[in-house]
Amino acid sequence: MNSYFSEWLNLILRWFHLVAGISWIGSSFYFMWLDQSLEPPKKPRDGVEGELWMCHSGGFYQVEKRRIGPGSMPDVLHWFKWEAAFTWLSGMGLLAVVYYLSDSAFLIDPTRTNLNHAQASAIGISVLAVTWFFYDWLWNSKLGKSQAGFSLALCLVLTAGISWWLSQLFTGRGAFLHVGAMFGTIMVLNVWVRILPAQQKMIDATKEGRTPDFNLGKAAKRRSVHNSYMTLPVLFIMISNHFPATYSGPWNWVALLLMTFIGGGIRHMQIVGTRRVAWMGIPVTGALALVIWICAPKPSFNVGQAGQLPPPEFAQVRGIIQERCVTCHSQHPTDDTFTVAPGGMMFDDPRTIKAFAARIKFRVVDSSTMPFGNKTKMTADERQILGRWLAAGANIGGADANIDAGHE
Ligand code: HEC
Repeated sequence: MNSYFSEWLNLILRWFHLVAGISWIGSSFYFMWLDQSLEPPKKPRDGVEGELWMCHSGGFYQVEKRRIGPGSMPDVLHWFKWEAAFTWLSGMGLLAVVYYLSDSAFLIDPTRTNLNHAQASAIGISVLAVTWFFYDWLWNSKLGKSQAGFSLALCLVLTAGISWWLSQLFTGRGAFLHVGAMFGTIMVLNVWVRILPAQQKMIDATKEGRTPDFNLGKAAKRRSVHNSYMTLPVLFIMISNHFPATYSGPWNWVALLLMTFIGGGIRHMQIVGTRRVAWMGIPVTGALALVIWICAPKPSFNVGQAGQLPPPEFAQVRGIIQERCVTCHSQHPTDDTFTVAPGGMMFDDPRTIKAFAARIKFRVVDSSTMPFGNKTKMTADERQILGRWLAAGANIGGADANIDAGHE
């Protein structure tokens, strides 16, 4: 896809995805909060389980949670279902625009895998589908119904396996995004396949003058609780996709699991009440410290040893950048996909190379996340040369003068 056009499509879809996601997760937080804050009415009223008063936007609101008897369906009943559907649809659109239809470098690194782009995309989509069927089967089975603890443990082990496996096949960011999308897909299908139909059955029963089966509501509530625990991990994983340090290291799949734990742990504190499970703060903080530690970049060469070698000439470094970076990072990129310099970074001018030395060190030497998907097949030796040059002060020699004299 043309990169300028796809950039707009990306931006519009992302905007939509955020707005839909805020509406979905916002209403989900709101209803979880309502359920916790409702109090039984002082004078019991027929069918009223709980009530509360709120003050917002210049008015007072009274909310009642109630059972409804046969035949007493209100004329207008508000549902909250499209938020979930639109979040997922726009998310899938983004996944396609960024990972499946765009440059294969987003999803696979040619120096690490033999998969082609179509195969990798097919694996990505299959993971989303297969994991839902397994999850749904498990929690509907006898095992899932009677052994919640075991089923949860099984789901976590499988998440670990999938995280590890995808991190071997895909680029780090591709693996992270697919694990996030896997949770998101389970969440949206919980809403559409399990929660909404149960509610519909209860409504139908009421309309037909029968007493609804409130057990249906309980089964739906369980899926809704699962969703609630997945919200914070999904958000954490989605944002971390924009922070190369999180997804680039050899232990990136462990980082993914820790993020899932941190998000779920914080959500648990929100749901149960921070004071009641204050101890959760300790493992959550510990996991955060651990994830920050394991993501710390480890330079791909030995600084001590490299320090003994003379720093390379800038001409050599420039040759490497010319060959491995400037295809994308230039005023006139020659790359087939990146026709506009990504991130506005253009390395035609030595002064820009020097100005962004710290960022280049992080992306090329410490985290090996540039060249993007290693599309230009940069070698470990070249990273080492760049690293030595950067360690020696990123000297561009007379290059400044050359430019000033108009030789550039
Ligand atoms: C195939 C195209 C491509 C090549 C080749 C490439 N990059 Fe990038 N670069 C990108 C894209 C896309 C982004 C924005 C996405 C991102 O940050 O991951 C980017 C972003 C960057 C950033 C800014 C992001 C930040 O973290 O501050 C730096 C610095 C960078 N690249 C350095 C380099 C260097 C140095 C090379 C050569 C060794 C290189 N790139 C080769 C595509 C490329």
